[in-house]
Amino acid sequence: MSMQDRIRAYLDEEGFKERFYGAIVAYVEDHTSPEFFKEYRKLRDRRDEKNNHEDTREFYDCGYQTVGNFVLYDLFSSRFRRIYEFHLKELTETIEPNSKIIDVACGSGIITVGLAELLNDMYIAGVDISDLVIRARERAERRNMKNIEFVRANMDDLRQELLQTSLRSSLPFDHLICMDAISEGINGEANTTYENASYPGLVKRIKSRLDEFKKIVRNSGKISISETCPGPERDSYDNMVTFYEKMLGKLFSLESMRCKEIMTKDCKLYTTYLFNLKVKS
Ligand SMILES: C[S@@+](CC[C@H](N)C(=O)[O-])C[C@H]1O[C@@H](n2cnc3c(N)ncnc32)[C@H](O)[C@@H]1O
Repeated sequence: MSMQDRIRAYLDEEGFKERFYGAIVAYVEDHTSPEFFKEYRKLRDRRDEKNNHEDTREFYDCGYQTVGNFVLYDLFSSRFRRIYEFHLKELTETIEPNSKIIDVACGSGIITVGLAELLNDMYIAGVDISDLVIRARERAERRNMKNIEFVRANMDDLRQELLQTSLRSSLPFDHLICMDAISEGINGEANTTYENASYPGLVKRIKSRLDEFKKIVRNSGKISISETCPGPERDSYDNMVTFYEKMLGKLFSLESMRCKEIMTKDCKLYTTYLFNLKVKS
């Protein structure tokens, strides 16, 4: 079976069928109390407005709940199935054999567990600030994966927090991935973030996250970061490339950059970017 077929089979098995947004909303409404979805939306709006750790965590913690046959977070992200396909394909081509990998802000572990499976049970750790790590652990257990661990940690204080966990003995990692999460808690949607590169906390926060990532990756190790923005490629490509080029400085070099426009089943267009950085020694 080709890697592409294996990726598709994995996402099928994990229930990631692409769904229309309207159908997802109807499903959630049918399987919860009338107040539930209102509360979920309130948490989402508050996260977007406040952009702090507490509200971000509270929103994702809510996504940890099961609704009918699905985890709420997965149900909504199944809408982005084509993005997961692209990320898994790119990562399986980029990660070198026998690497020790860490997935920072791994959410419900769809990429983490997928990599462990597709790369033949290579060692991989996942960390996230929210209860979603519990779902990620369950996903790995269901698939009987051995070389995988999930712990709760805040990426803003990553090294210190990892030193308090079982991952202490796995430091440093060969390859760190952070998929669609590095601008979390900064300024809502990634495209707004990069267009408003003058937004006060943005550069500082992403820089300090990259510094934090460097502390747990070996010299000459790799870091892969993805960001997904609504809209076509030309709207955000230049902003994003300029942004990363300006920021990398002495610590990292940009090895490659890939991007792809992806249309969801309900005809919303997104562009996803994947930056591969190398840690300078
Ligand atoms: C858009 S989701 C992406 C999840 C996963 N990487 C994926 O591709 O499905 C963003 C994730 O970042 C996590 N997150 C937000 N702020 C964080 C922080 N300070 N430290 C660790 N994780 C964080 C959230 O809990 C959430 O799971």
